[in-house]
Amino acid sequence: MRHWSAEGTLVHTCSVILVATVEGELDAVALRLADLEASVVEVKSTSPRRRVVLAAATDEWAAEKITATLRSEGLMVASRPDEGVRLARWSHVTRPVTIAGRVTVAFAWSEHDQGGLPRVIELGYGGFGNAQHPTTRLVIEALADRVARGDQVLDVGCGSGVLGLCSLALGADRMVGVDLDERAVLATSRHAVVNGMGSRVEVTAGFLESIDATFDVVVANIARAGIVELADQLVAKVAPGGWIAVSGITPSQCTQVTEFLRPLREVGRRVDGDWSVVVLSRT
Ligand SMILES: C[S@@+](CC[C@H](N)C(=O)[O-])C[C@H]1O[C@@H](n2cnc3c(N)ncnc32)[C@H](O)[C@@H]1O
Repeated sequence: MRHWSAEGTLVHTCSVILVATVEGELDAVALRLADLEASVVEVKSTSPRRRVVLAAATDEWAAEKITATLRSEGLMVASRPDEGVRLARWSHVTRPVTIAGRVTVAFAWSEHDQGGLPRVIELGYGGFGNAQHPTTRLVIEALADRVARGDQVLDVGCGSGVLGLCSLALGADRMVGVDLDERAVLATSRHAVVNGMGSRVEVTAGFLESIDATFDVVVANIARAGIVELADQLVAKVAPGGWIAVSGITPSQCTQVTEFLRPLREVGRRVDGDWSVVVLSRT
């Protein structure tokens, strides 16, 4: 749908609603959409299990309202542009991302085919982190390299839970997530359930100091200031033989951050454009 803005420019709006569901729930989703005056236009099978219902709303505002209502009812929903350059852009930024050929991060409501992709972690909405951003992707690359079967993982600043959930997909046994933002905690819990990992995930709202344990793997994509502020606590959470990946830092900040994390020893560093991850171990 298009309309003219107050400034006289042509604006493309979001009037298509996408609902991620499964075969057995299709009728219930269609009925609920009809209740909300949206009509189903197509159902896509994006994996053997996942169905994505496309529904048309009368306009952008109706689509956003319906999306918010369905999210409050626990459904994984998004609304998207229905044509033009903005649709092409949406399609690009919602494509599944496969990292190191071993794990894939995909939006549950993405219309892209997920068949044949390695170990898909599905996300709905809420909390930062979906593997489109290099700071997240770089940590997942480190996880793909180093996670061992049975590892216990601490995800500091878990956001959407994407790092911890990827670690489970790569063989870790259990993840503990912590985030200051209550919305991130809710998103991580929701995503754990969506991916069938609820029993292996524990999430806490609040400060890192509330967690009293050590871990084989610690991940913290919380930027230079956050890493420096929490440095002593981060170091204390790494078990003997364990390692930590810190991210959200620029290549020029790596050496300084490494100094703060002594006595851990740097064992790896990756760079993607303006962003870096440093891996340090306790050996
Ligand atoms: C850049 S996001 C990273 C999200 C996700 N882990 C990822 O890698 O995509 C940073 C997250 O850290 C949380 N955060 C920032 N400082 C924190 C702190 N001191 N303790 C716990 N969480 C924190 C924020 O609320 C936010 O959800």
